[in-house]
Parts: sequence; structure tokens; C-alpha cells
Amino acid sequence: MTKKWNRRDFLKISGTAGLGATLGSCFVSRSAPLNQAPLKTEPIEHLIAPPMDMVRVGYVGIGNQGSGHIRNLLRIEGVEIKAVCDIREERTLWAQKQCQKAGKPKPAAYHKGTEDFKRMCDTEELDLVYNATPWEWHVPISVKAMETGSHAATEVPGAITLEGCWHLVETSEKYKKHCCVMENCNYDRTELMLFHMVRRGVFGELMHAECGYLHDLREYKFGNIYYPLDWRLKYSIKRNADLYPTHGLGPVSQWMDITRGNKFEYLVSMSSPSPSLSLKREAIQRYGKDHPRSNTDYALGDVITTLIKTHKGQSILLVHDTNSPRPYSRKILLQGTKGLARKYPEQKIHIEGLSPRHRWEDLSSYSEKYKHPLLTSLEEKAEGAGHGGMDFIEDYRLIQCLREGKPTDSDVYEGAAISAVVALSEKSIAGNSVPVDFPDFTRGKWKTRTPLGIVTA
Ligand SMILES: NC(=O)c1ccc[n+]([C@@H]2O[C@H](COP(=O)([O-])OP(=O)(O)OC[C@H]3O[C@@H](n4cnc5c(N)ncnc54)[C@H](O)[C@@H]3O)[C@@H](O)[C@H]2O)c1
Repeated sequence: MTKKWNRRDFLKISGTAGLGATLGSCFVSRSAPLNQAPLKTEPIEHLIAPPMDMVRVGYVGIGNQGSGHIRNLLRIEGVEIKAVCDIREERTLWAQKQCQKAGKPKPAAYHKGTEDFKRMCDTEELDLVYNATPWEWHVPISVKAMETGSHAATEVPGAITLEGCWHLVETSEKYKKHCCVMENCNYDRTELMLFHMVRRGVFGELMHAECGYLHDLREYKFGNIYYPLDWRLKYSIKRNADLYPTHGLGPVSQWMDITRGNKFEYLVSMSSPSPSLSLKREAIQRYGKDHPRSNTDYALGDVITTLIKTHKGQSILLVHDTNSPRPYSRKILLQGTKGLARKYPEQKIHIEGLSPRHRWEDLSSYSEKYKHPLLTSLEEKAEGAGHGGMDFIEDYRLIQCLREGKPTDSDVYEGAAISAVVALSEKSIAGNSVPVDFPDFTRGKWKTRTPLGIVTA
């Protein structure tokens, strides 16, 4: 059954007394984003930090995704992994071995509990602290990194609360340190090509996009192999929200210049039945009906649908679907005044004047002409790296920007905007799909910030 919204739930989720003033009107008009105390820092147009020859890295969280990043960093010129940190000592030992096997110095290891990253940041001379830990650690690790003089890079989502998003923004501004929310799907082959085509005007004016994260994670949530600490399942028990918005929304944001000439205005979200039907069913099938897992209510609705309106009036349909039987998809549809393209289930395109009338063409017929220059230069090097090579390209670009002292492709404002969907969708769902405004993390700077160009390696 869909849980009925009530005032107490709303306050619980909103988490601030200050919001109370807006409650009376939240059903009839748009609900304001969480009140935010005025920041003590100024927004930055495009953060530029001093260049460096060598990027000294402290890596935190060496599980499934972190291991891939370690392997990538070992193959990128100008990187020294100085320290590695994980609550599981065997993972730090693994990382040390990888460094030595690659002919690099053995990094210092930190494995004395969940807060040992603080000791690492306080002890080591680092330029970048990069983490791939469970979601609740992204903000504390990134903030500590910046406070101790490093740039920060974090796996997605950057933060799972609005306070967390603001904390990243304020700390980055205060210490003038990059804080990158590492959305690898921005660098996937098709997404890069679509970016290139958008910049070349192939689609005309953008009007609409569809995207999401549609990945049957039941095996990951219950399997006890992929996530031995169950951290991902815990979020499915606690929160009814789009928990993982950035894989689809990252590329769309860059196509639509979000925080750089455009911004997200508001969203509305709706959940399929909550508690989840699929997770309960899965638990009963796996463990029998008397098992505690079978008697747990999983708050996360199986399908979370969100509609986002941008300042330029564009609409974005965003879907989160991680509990049900289905093939993998990030949806990915982009529509402009001249035509549209989609990625799943097959890559298709229709452009007026180029495609046969009313018919799809294979997107691959455009791939030679619109291959993104990053792919042209990095394709070979990226071969065999995580997620079809895109993880390597994202890591390469991060290191390249730091070494050259250039703004990163995605910065803290964009990272905060796409991550904020977790908290905002939760609020909308709890309020019976009430529209919820996005905070403007740039505090007006989105009007003058220049869009990301076609970057090269
Ligand atoms: N971009 C992608 O395609 C992608 C894919 C998978 C995971 N991720 C993200 O990467 C992150 C990690 O996911 P994963 O699948 O690798 O999970 P995981 O559980 O395999 O890895 C997390 C690691 O962090 C360690 N850890 C936990 N708390 C810690 C702490 N306080 N300090 C130090 N180490 C700590 C764990 O021991 C584990 O080794 C998540 O944020 C997830 O969303 C991204």
C-alpha cells in the first residue's frame, strides 16, 4: 500500500523546524526546498586550482568500485597513490600489492575503523582524496579531505541529504578545493557522442529528456556476496526516494547545461506501492516466510518516477527501478526541435531532413562523424577498464584537469544539483507528489557560468 502522507512524517523527512512555516501551503503550492542558513562563503564561477606535476592520492573504500579506480589510477601518468584506506584490512593489503605490482611505491595503509580516513587526511600529504565508500560516508570523507588541503572526488551520489549537498558546496568554496561527484556515465560512448551532437546542434533546441537507473539489484541487495555489509539493502528499508539519480541525470545535465546557463527548477516524484512488493517477494522466496528479512518492510517503492522542470522549460523524466526483474537500462532519450535519439533497448535516432520520414535509423550510422574526441584519444587506453572503459576516461579527465590546473568537467555545483534529487524526490513522494523546488547551489552564478565544451585528452 502507498503510505499516506501525514504531518509528522513530513516533518521527520524535512528535518528542520524552519520548514514548518511553509507546511500549511504545501499541498496547494510548490513546497520550498529545505531552509538553508546563509552560507559564509561566496559562489565561485569556475574553480581553478594551481597545476601540479604529480597528483598524490589517498584512496578510501576499496570494494567493488574502488578497486577499479585503483587499477585505473595506476595506469594514468602523474599519479602517486600515497595512502589507501578501508575498514577491511585485506582490501588495503590488496591495494598495496597492486601498487607494488605496477612498480610503484607501496602506499601507507589505514584500516582502523570507519573514521580512520581522518587519520589518513591528517597524516599524509595528499592532493586528492577519492572515495568509493557506502553513501553515508561520501560527505564526511570529502569534507575532511578539503579541510586538510586536498581536492575531493567521491563516488555517486555525492550526498543523500540536502544538508550534505550544501556542506560539499560550502566546504569547496571555503577551501577553494575541487569536489567532484564522479559520474562515470557522463563518459560512456553513447552519452559522449550525444553530448558532441548536442554541441554541434544536431538536435536543435533541447526540449525533453528521459533517463534513469533501471537495474535489477535483488542479487546485490540480498546476495551477501557483493555487499557483505548490507549497506545498500539498508537504504531500501529506510527510504522511499530515487536513491541513485545520477547515472541518467549526469549526462542529461551536461547536455542541458544545468548550473551553467540553465538550472533545475522543481520536481515531482511518485512511487509505486511502498513498502516494496518485489523485495518482500524476493525475501520470502530466498529465506522462507518466517525469516526476519521476509518480515521487514522495505520502504523503497519498486519504481520511482520523477519529473523535473528546468529553467529553460525543458522536461526530464527520471526513473529509479532496482527491485524488479528487468534488463539493465538507463533509458536515455534526448529530444530537440530537430529530432531525437534513444539508447535503450536499441540505439536509434530520427533527425528531420536526414532520417527517412517517420522512421528510426540506427544511431551507429552517426558514430563516425560524431565520435567524441575524448574517445578517439583514449579508447585504446580505456580498453578493459570498468564499465566498458568509461571509468578510466572519467579518472583520466579528473587527473588531467588537476595536473593542468583547469576546472574539472563536473564540479561541486553540478554534483550537488544531480545528487539533491535523492532528498527532493523523497520529500515529494512523502507529500503525495507535491512539487519541490531545487535549491540553487550556485546562488545565481548559473546565469554566467559557461557551459562545458567538447573537451579533449
Ligand atoms: N559509478 C558506478 O558505476 C558505481 C558502481 C558501483 C558502485 N558505485 C558507488 O561506489 C560506492 C561503493 O560501492 P561498491 O559497490 O564499491 O561497494 P562495496 O561495499 O563493494 O565497497 C565499499 C568499500 O568501502 C569500505 N568502507 C565502508 N565504510 C568505510 C569507511 N568508513 N572508511 C573506509 N572504508 C569503508 C568497505 O569495506 C568496502 O570495501 C558507492 O557509493 C556506490 O554508489 C558506483
